[in-house]
Amino acid sequence: MITIAHLSDLHFGREQTQVIHNLLASLQEQRPDLVIISGDLTQRARSYEFQQAKIFLDNLPYPYFIIPGNHDLSAHKLIERFFFPWKKWKQYISPQLEPCIENDQCKVVGVNSARRLGLYLDWSRGRINSKQISHVVENFNQTNEKKLRILVAHHPFWLPTVYLRRQLIGGRDKAIEALSQAGVDIILGGHIHIPFMKILRGVIISHAGTTVSDRLIEGQPNSYNIIKGDSKKLTLISLEQENQEFTIRQESKFIKTGKHWHPYPKK
Ligand SMILES: [Fe+2]
Ligand SMILES: [Fe+2]
Repeated sequence: MITIAHLSDLHFGREQTQVIHNLLASLQEQRPDLVIISGDLTQRARSYEFQQAKIFLDNLPYPYFIIPGNHDLSAHKLIERFFFPWKKWKQYISPQLEPCIENDQCKVVGVNSARRLGLYLDWSRGRINSKQISHVVENFNQTNEKKLRILVAHHPFWLPTVYLRRQLIGGRDKAIEALSQAGVDIILGGHIHIPFMKILRGVIISHAGTTVSDRLIEGQPNSYNIIKGDSKKLTLISLEQENQEFTIRQESKFIKTGKHWHPYPKK
């Protein structure tokens, strides 16, 4: 069994020092084997924000896996955004935008869904294209079936109805079909700053809220998720910060039958 902590939207530049302390205390209790961070590491993609984020990552006493989000592209320095969009990410955080790791229990593949521009006004929107889908499918096809298959992308493959204005990841329908066929177990994301989960085409979609930033949606505290289990049974735990402490808000169990995941016990 593996224990994974899923953090998101840390937004360094708008981080809250006390919340980081509270998070680290909570992680110490959960003792994750791996920490996954699903994008929006910074607020404005400024150098000092990346530097602060890197200090946080370097001091994490757990292995971590990270992908970028739309906020990790500069919104103001347009030459940087259009011509050197990932220069700072590569300089401060990682040479990889779409990392992949595998151990004896799981395979984790990252997709960079942030785009420097698009044929729309809202450049915070994201996309997964055909080349990325093929790359992910090929990657998982080479994986032992007994391993938990995790895809990490910043933008959402599903949204609660009240948040549909935030836009699903572009290419969602084609992607979810292919990912379901490829036996992906769980897709982890962020971007909306609320935690939620949903089963789509037999795949578990799980989003974390903003874990340590003050960019909170009204009524939504800082939060992160814990994923425990294996390729047959999973428990997803959502933790929220209340009174300077992360506490369990919700716990959901899932079981896999054939290629599809279901809530457990079945409703
Ligand atoms: Fe965000
Ligand atoms: Fe975002």
